[in-house]
Amino acid sequence: MMRNVVAIDGPAGSGKSTVSRIAAERLGFTYLDTGAMYRALTLRAIKSGISLEDEKRVEQVVASANLEFENGFVLLDGTDVTKEIRSNQVTRHVPTVAAYPSVRAVMLVKQRLLADNSAGIVMEGRDIGTVVFPDARWKFYLDAKPEVRAKRRQKELELQGKEREFGAVLEDILKRDKEDSERQTAPLRRASDAILIDTSELSINETVEKIITEIESKKPYAVSW
Ligand code: DC
Repeated sequence: MMRNVVAIDGPAGSGKSTVSRIAAERLGFTYLDTGAMYRALTLRAIKSGISLEDEKRVEQVVASANLEFENGFVLLDGTDVTKEIRSNQVTRHVPTVAAYPSVRAVMLVKQRLLADNSAGIVMEGRDIGTVVFPDARWKFYLDAKPEVRAKRRQKELELQGKEREFGAVLEDILKRDKEDSERQTAPLRRASDAILIDTSELSINETVEKIITEIESKKPYAVSW
């Protein structure tokens, strides 16, 4: 089945979450932040007290998790965890959980099901255009210079009342890039047919415009605008 999927991948701080949310609103499509899924699973694994190094146990905790997305809120087993999944602890541990093939297999099924149940979806993450929807109608890869991404992250933290030194934030970003792109299963990389957008010098609106223009030049299936 052909689906109206907009796949948006890229590293942390590339602007993909904000841009994807706005683009989805503009298109009248569902928005799915797959990073939030991995974060929620990581939170569940941490809370359950198991060792995150134990893939089998992590897989069990993940398989029985109930994840829901409602109006921008993330619900884990019926509880709102939207804020909690952005904690430093979750951010630090999420690459370990996201690297497990068994965890990714469970997420892949959930992500495809969510797309099946919507007329159109903007899905953002690290492997959407490469693994989850290699045949997506539209694919984008957002990137920006590490220093620019670190600056954005630092600002985001500041807004949450957390002051952090620029060097430390940059180091975290580079570490996460390495973990996400060097893992064996579904590493972060640009699909060969994804449109690359360097957002270093672009505003959010300019990036959204580029995406919408591209999408409008290639109309979706059975959705009339
Ligand atoms: O986009 P984010 O920072 O919220 O993502 C959190 C983590 O989840 C990140 O370390 C990479 C991982 N992730 C992934 O492996 N695959 C995805 N499709 C989305 C996120």
